[in-house]
Amino acid sequence: MNESCNDKHFSLCNILQKAEQEHKLSKNEIVELLKSDGGLLYKSADRTRKQYKDDFVHLRGLIEFSNICRCNCFYCGLRAENSLIDRYRLTENEILDCANIAIDAGYKTIVLQSGEDMFWDSNKICSLIKKIKQKDVAITLSIGERSYEEYKKFKDIGADRFLLRIETTDKNLYKQLHPNMSFENRVQCLWNLKKLGYETGTGCLVGLPNQTIESLANDILFFKELDADMVGIGPLIPHPNTPLKDANKDNFDMALKVMATVRILMPDINIPATTAMESIRENGRIIALNSGANVVMPNFTESEYRKKYEIYPNKICINDSPKKCMNCIKLKIESIGRKISETKGYRKES
Ligand code: SAM
Ligand code: SF4
Ligand code: FES
Repeated sequence: MNESCNDKHFSLCNILQKAEQEHKLSKNEIVELLKSDGGLLYKSADRTRKQYKDDFVHLRGLIEFSNICRCNCFYCGLRAENSLIDRYRLTENEILDCANIAIDAGYKTIVLQSGEDMFWDSNKICSLIKKIKQKDVAITLSIGERSYEEYKKFKDIGADRFLLRIETTDKNLYKQLHPNMSFENRVQCLWNLKKLGYETGTGCLVGLPNQTIESLANDILFFKELDADMVGIGPLIPHPNTPLKDANKDNFDMALKVMATVRILMPDINIPATTAMESIRENGRIIALNSGANVVMPNFTESEYRKKYEIYPNKICINDSPKKCMNCIKLKIESIGRKISETKGYRKES
């Protein structure tokens, strides 16, 4: 029962009570939540997180292994047409070194993220997965769109999870922002990942030009339809060397409301407190952890490369070492009474 219900918030309270009990809402009800000031919504999401995921926070060690990308997503600093970025690609040994730092520190998941860099063909990705899997860790891939057969090879050799945000379910908007890409293929990739048995992560960007609250509600309904195992919500942070350089910067609160709503409607999934949230709001990840999130992805890329993985400006930690971030995030998590999980943090584990 929600103690804070009063006349002013009566309808909002009713929607939240229904959501907490049934984990199902209509599009109109989701829109009401996203239009609210967020106060009651965040409390409800935090209650749901505690009930289904306890106080544990899963840490995933993120390695940004190449900033080379064949795509031209309108919002992203790594887009192929951004000639002002200094491109890099780590070697397999460099990636293994980063992974070992995380594994030695007790991390149970390694996240391998890159632009759509086709130098990393399926044989090279498989070799990397095989080597990392010699240690007892889970692997998450975040390398963009590949064929069903490639996804299958990665899964067969040991990849556990895959992150591929749909970015927006508004087909027209998707088309405008992703030249030479296909919305249908993006959706198909996600269903392929599900079918292959990956823990499948998706999510959206909040604050895209012409994106409506109704469209964000559709995004949330899509995550539910897919039965996503992880959902990452990113506030758009306009990058000066992209076509969206003049887009709205003030996207933290709406992103947090989308994330909190996802928690209530998908109570047992994993939800990261995203780096982008902290890059635009002081303590943004802690605010997110107190509003439904249960995962943090500290960066294990060595400092000299971190600066170059500039998907958006003013990214946190670009001058910090993996060791500094590890200690920093541990202290922050403990400071709000949460515990660092020692498991691999699958959606379905008890
Ligand atoms: N290339 C892979 C892909 O697109 O799935 C993985 C790497 S990509 C950099 C990871 C995520 O960064 C994207 O899904 C996108 O949502 C996010 N991103 C890109 N540009 C951004 C921006 N300007 N602000 C916030 N997030 C951004
Ligand atoms: Fe490339 Fe991913 Fe950035 Fe799009 S979002 S340009 S696919 S790195
Ligand atoms: Fe990198 Fe705090 S997480 S310094």
